[in-house]
Amino acid sequence: MHRIRAVIFDAYGTLLDIHAAMARHADRLGPNWRQISADWRAKQVEYAWVRTMVGPAHHRDFWRLTQEALEVVSEVHGITDAALKADILAAYRRLDAYPEVPDMLRALKAKGLACAILSNGEPEMLHDAVTAAGIAPLLDAVLSVESVRVFKPDPRVYRLAGRRFHLAPREMAFLSSNPWDAFGAHELGFRVIRVNRDGAPDEYGLRGNVAEVTDLAALPDLLA
Ligand code: LAC
Repeated sequence: MHRIRAVIFDAYGTLLDIHAAMARHADRLGPNWRQISADWRAKQVEYAWVRTMVGPAHHRDFWRLTQEALEVVSEVHGITDAALKADILAAYRRLDAYPEVPDMLRALKAKGLACAILSNGEPEMLHDAVTAAGIAPLLDAVLSVESVRVFKPDPRVYRLAGRRFHLAPREMAFLSSNPWDAFGAHELGFRVIRVNRDGAPDEYGLRGNVAEVTDLAALPDLLA
């Protein structure tokens, strides 16, 4: 077993609670807000995958796709209030980190491990998010797909981490709550740990091949 030297995190949904944006405006969205938020997320990632597959001429950054996805989902759910949509987008730039995240990052750093984000996010939105969540000083790098202009799970994205830290995939842990992302990183040889907060079912045959945790609190001990 190779020693882990760096821990690479997915951002949206793994360190940052993607549903916090609509949760903050739940009273204005109505009782269906959780479904609307889930639909927004599904469209956002669908747009990313489709644009990567269709080809480089069709690349749009993740912030733009986030906005386009909100427009479509708003239309589907009959949300016409432009001020509400603007407030939701502003909230998405300042998502909450999950509560255990700052202490967990501090514990990893105390163990001498490098910590980084590798995200489909666009650099400015990632900058805003980690600053608002108060975790910017705890991260050695925030790597965005914008340097390769394709989205995870394209292998070109995962290779950015090795290049940044001069490490082989087996020397890096990769944490994601997105099964498709865990699958992509596992294929490249990272030591993948799936974060499964809601007891979601296995996908891509991950169970048995990658470790699974219910939140990130135990990660420092797991990597000890
Ligand atoms: C990320 C999203 C897609 O890459 O979870 O941060």
